[in-house]
Amino acid sequence: MKGVVLAGGTGSRLFPLTKITNKHLLPIFDQPMIYYPIQTLVDAGIRDILVVTGGRNAGDFLRLLANGKHFGLSHIDFTYQEGEGGIAEALNLAHHFADGHKICVILGDNIIEGNIRGAVEEFLKQPRGARILLKEVQDAERFGVAELVGDKVVNIEEKPRRPKSNYAVTGIYMYDTTIFDKINTLEPSARGELEITDVNNAYIREGTMSFSMLEGWWTDAGTFDSLLRASNLVASTLRKPVEGTPRD
Ligand code: G1P
Repeated sequence: MKGVVLAGGTGSRLFPLTKITNKHLLPIFDQPMIYYPIQTLVDAGIRDILVVTGGRNAGDFLRLLANGKHFGLSHIDFTYQEGEGGIAEALNLAHHFADGHKICVILGDNIIEGNIRGAVEEFLKQPRGARILLKEVQDAERFGVAELVGDKVVNIEEKPRRPKSNYAVTGIYMYDTTIFDKINTLEPSARGELEITDVNNAYIREGTMSFSMLEGWWTDAGTFDSLLRASNLVASTLRKPVEGTPRD
């Protein structure tokens, strides 16, 4: 399985922080944001990784990530999204890279405490289709929200005013190679973007969508509040202070 990190977008909800740099290069505690989703893929055993970025600061990703040595990789692939066509459009740029393999996609601002190894193994056993990771949250209206009936996801609504459940669809998705045909049938949403939720609903209609529950905390980092929360969560749970030198 190959991995794709989506790290484009204008980051408009973080202006002016993102006026002169890309959102995914901002710090989350002691590391650039993009390090976390790459590490999530690497921890799941994925070694072949594509970073999709865009905007004026795309070159900085190459300087920062180089050949992936920091993650123990021997190389990293990059591609460039022109314009602002949404998550599904960015993903379409991974068609050549995927080259018939299954892919695990992670949004560049999604940070998790645990790992996704179990879900990846389950998906590899799946003959076809897709798998999403869900997480119970208190503010579901900020996300794609899964409607569950029994052990099946029957629909996903993007940022609904009245969520049908508390299960947010996290920005970690696994797809078979039919994803690219599905993206090509999409129409832009009201905000003019190709929505990942429409891709996921296409798999649901086809009857091939499965899901796993994500263990441990999960946060995005695309707003001021979630950016701060992400740093605090990393500092308090992922980085253990060295004994005898309590953090002030
Ligand atoms: C995107 C997706 C949404 C998902 C979220 C996870 O939203 O559209 O379905 O729940 O990522 O972080 P965005 O953060 O781009 O508004």
